[in-house]
Amino acid sequence: MEIRPERSGDVEAIREIARVAFRDHPHSRQTEAAIIDGLRRANALSVSLVAVRDGTVVGHVAFSPVTIDGEGNGWYGLGPVCVLPELQRQGIGQALIREGLACLRRMNARGCVLVGDPDYYGRFGFISDPALRCGDVPAEYLQRLVLGRTVPRGEVRFHPAFDAA
Ligand SMILES: CC(C)(COP(=O)(O)OP(=O)(O)OC[C@H]1O[C@@H](n2cnc3c(N)ncnc32)[C@H](O)[C@@H]1OP(=O)(O)O)[C@@H](O)C(=O)NCCC(=O)NCCS
Repeated sequence: MEIRPERSGDVEAIREIARVAFRDHPHSRQTEAAIIDGLRRANALSVSLVAVRDGTVVGHVAFSPVTIDGEGNGWYGLGPVCVLPELQRQGIGQALIREGLACLRRMNARGCVLVGDPDYYGRFGFISDPALRCGDVPAEYLQRLVLGRTVPRGEVRFHPAFDAA
């Protein structure tokens, strides 16, 4: 399996994976494909990686800039991340996330936040932090990974593409 940056020819495959991966997700509003498209249109897909197996795109992860306490400060949001349902639980999601975090480190990002299941994201070093908030997201689902030296406090805002969708 290869993990590489998205190319223009991957766009439709990414849309389709997001559509089928989130179809039965209990907290999804089925807007993930539109969010990824919106981030791309806004030039806010800071990192966009695909997993390719046997020449076919089978997974995708996006990272986009966030603001914390009103400041755009080198922090990024992870997500959406998705893998074709029939290929889940084979390590593809983990490989995408680990390579995405490596890209952020190379970009000298200060850190990464996400909204997601602590049982899954803890393995990458994400923890919840009561000093961060994000609307009405329950505290344990808002998680952060510090990559630089400072730990910010305050309200996390994801890119407007997350709302527009
Ligand atoms: C979440 C997702 C990207 C993970 O990718 P994946 O390739 O299936 O996951 P991996 O194979 O890398 O990791 C598997 C491990 O994660 C665990 N896992 C997978 N999804 C999980 C979840 N939602 N919550 C908790 N653990 C999860 C598995 O139990 C497994 O653990 P183990 O290695 O200890 O057995 C993928 O399952 C997916 O596309 N899900 C639907 C969309 C989604 O929920 N996206 C995340 C929210 S933005």
